[in-house]
Amino acid sequence: MKEIVIGFLGCGNVGGGVWRLLEDMREEIAHRFDGLSLRVKRVLVRDVNKTRSCDVPAEVLTDRPEDVLDDSEISIVAEFMGGEQPATDYLLRALRSGKTVVTANKVALALNWHLLQAAAEKSGAGLYYEASVCGAVPILQTLTEALPANRIDLLMGIINGTTNYILTRMSDEGSEYADVLADAQRLGLAEPNPAADVEGMDAAYKLTIMSSLAFHGRVTYDRVYREGITGVTATDIACGSAMGYTLKLLAIAKRGGEDGREIEVRVHPTFLPKNHPLARVEGSFNAVYLRGHACGEITLQGRGAGDYPTASAVVGDILRAATAEKHRHPTFRNTAEPDPSLHFTDDWRSRYFIRCSAVDAPGVLARVADCFASEQVSIATMRQEGAAALGRVQLIFITHEAGEKAVRRAVSRLDSAICSLESLIRVEE
Ligand code: NAP
Ligand code: HSE
Repeated sequence: MKEIVIGFLGCGNVGGGVWRLLEDMREEIAHRFDGLSLRVKRVLVRDVNKTRSCDVPAEVLTDRPEDVLDDSEISIVAEFMGGEQPATDYLLRALRSGKTVVTANKVALALNWHLLQAAAEKSGAGLYYEASVCGAVPILQTLTEALPANRIDLLMGIINGTTNYILTRMSDEGSEYADVLADAQRLGLAEPNPAADVEGMDAAYKLTIMSSLAFHGRVTYDRVYREGITGVTATDIACGSAMGYTLKLLAIAKRGGEDGREIEVRVHPTFLPKNHPLARVEGSFNAVYLRGHACGEITLQGRGAGDYPTASAVVGDILRAATAEKHRHPTFRNTAEPDPSLHFTDDWRSRYFIRCSAVDAPGVLARVADCFASEQVSIATMRQEGAAALGRVQLIFITHEAGEKAVRRAVSRLDSAICSLESLIRVEE
């Protein structure tokens, strides 16, 4: 029988789930993996007296990091503390002393992946992080283990459950963002401080990791264009819906250009046609739609958060680490800087939903249309809504595909005396 001794850093939602799943699967793991036994020896927390969601014995809990990091019997450190620090320092200490790391921490990984991988490679330790992106959805192993024979040119995902839950309820109920957020916080479905989710940082960290693996080159967090959902209104969602679209916070990574090295990475609210595979992903579910030159289109969908779904990915990584003959790492140059052979662009092409409030008078529409025409932005569809008696109406345009910068220049030409921009939302097909 082979015994692997594990130390936990953290024992909250995810750590509690991992503890319970390891207990739950103990016999099956032994049966499936030739008698393998996974023993958790120490569990680092902030407050050893806190009530836990798992029955970790009091003598296993500690608030001293060295009890995990300096214990020579522990060969795998599983981290679910969260945040960049002190998590990164603890992980580096573990890796430098030859301990393999399994982490669910997208912030530490996205910001310090190069340091962590270098430390792992130097000591021969493993670095596993499936749980850091999309919880139970095995997107990272799909990219690295199942699809290495592909050139991936598109990743498009709903990779933050909190914002998908909020947008789904806004769509279903016609409610405003602030009301749904407050309710989600009351129900414990959104954090008391929701910034990382609603401002798109969480999705941007995950996109950094996914797209680096997909494009086989380091994509850094500072290269990701980011807009959250705090400015989304019930009016936008209703107008888009009337035109056949559903609003989602999408994380998008595309590769194009003549040499296939032009990269765009962006997180922002996006309208999708209602029959798009991602448009039907509701509530707190996650999904990633990808395209490879050999595999074609693939959509993965599932639970992106929660104790057991995230534990599913963590325990899967622990088992891979425990049974690996040699730990493997991505083979691209993993540095602090973005890969110099990737050309990042902020002038991507997209379709656009543009909603304006305009004076209802002869010639206004022609003047607005002229702003678009002068930047070569072509209108595909247009609607006018609202009572002329009130003096102002809503003009809603959907453009054909156009350059981001051209569209921004076009809307900056609008004469605010007759037409003001209310919202500009990208549309993907
Ligand atoms: P959590 O419930 O807040 O748990 C964090 C745990 O870490 C707690 O046990 C806390 O101790 C401990 N901790 C935090 N800072 C510490 C420090 N400086 N020293 C010692 N212990 C410390 O968080 P979570 O929801 O489990 O998330 C953990 C990680 O998993 C994060 O990186 C998150 O992004 C990632 N993740 C979470 C989910 C999810 O569904 N929640 C899904 C995917 C990935 P105390 O218990 O004593 O306070
Ligand atoms: N806060 C994340 C979400 C889960 O809402 O999807 C952890 O990655």
